[in-house]
Amino acid sequence: MKKLISPLDLTTQEIDEILSLADRIMENPTAYAHKCDGKILATLFFEPSTRTRLSFESAMLSLGGKVLGFSSASSSSASKGESVADTVRTVECYADIIAMRHPKEGAAAVAAANVECPLINAGDGGHQHPTQTLTDLLTIRRLKGHLDNLTIGFCGDLKFGRTVHSLIRAMMRYEGIRFILVSPKELQIPDYIRDDLTAGGFDFQEVERLEDAIGEMDILYMTRVQRERFFNEEDYIRLRDSYILDTEKMELAKKDMIVLHPLPRVNEISVEVDKDPRACYFKQARCGRFVRMALIMKMLEVE
Ligand code: CP
Repeated sequence: MKKLISPLDLTTQEIDEILSLADRIMENPTAYAHKCDGKILATLFFEPSTRTRLSFESAMLSLGGKVLGFSSASSSSASKGESVADTVRTVECYADIIAMRHPKEGAAAVAAANVECPLINAGDGGHQHPTQTLTDLLTIRRLKGHLDNLTIGFCGDLKFGRTVHSLIRAMMRYEGIRFILVSPKELQIPDYIRDDLTAGGFDFQEVERLEDAIGEMDILYMTRVQRERFFNEEDYIRLRDSYILDTEKMELAKKDMIVLHPLPRVNEISVEVDKDPRACYFKQARCGRFVRMALIMKMLEVE
């Protein structure tokens, strides 16, 4: 596997192998400390990031490799008008594997079409974020023990949230998954995802009030309203506080429900919820480093 643009580029068997490798790395990280000696990862981030970029860099450093890259378009020659295609063709001369984030949907596919080396989509606009999905799947499998027969609620900005789009697509391949989609009407999932859920005969419902559905969920996947993808600030301000998960709402949830969030959080989860043992979003962020170690190893074929 040379390019990862969407979670569907991986078979469920390949996902299983990556998650199992990540589990093994978590148990004994020192055994993997030299797997990528002499290899270089380039992180090309045309859009801000904390977790994805730093966990990729931590992953490669933890495997004995080296990293280079940029953390904003303004510090690269994109600011002079260079195309994504020319950028990655150049970076391929300096690195063995590329992780790229870009604000435009489809940019990762353009980049992938222009390089021979492995390339990973680290988020393209409101489209897909496959390594966040691998992180989410690893977290769910470790905490719930399985990836099937689960009711998963997605809450917040389901229109622009690429982590939501990627995880729904990935979870559709497991048996017995029920989706509860909680959002204001203006931030509902895109039609193409709803069409896929309908065509596939999936059990899904769309609701506006979190309180009405939280009690049925095994997993609650909270999301931030994506300010950077709105066309005007007024709409963002009107919608940004649509959902705030607090201790009162947590009382309505199952005792073994887990709360996930890809982060960054703004104010959609009250900080008082962090003390609840069901709040698992920092465990989730930790998983990101190990699943990316596993993915880099797979893509560089260094197992
Ligand atoms: N979850 C995630 O993609 O976070 P960053 O934007 O900080 O990378």
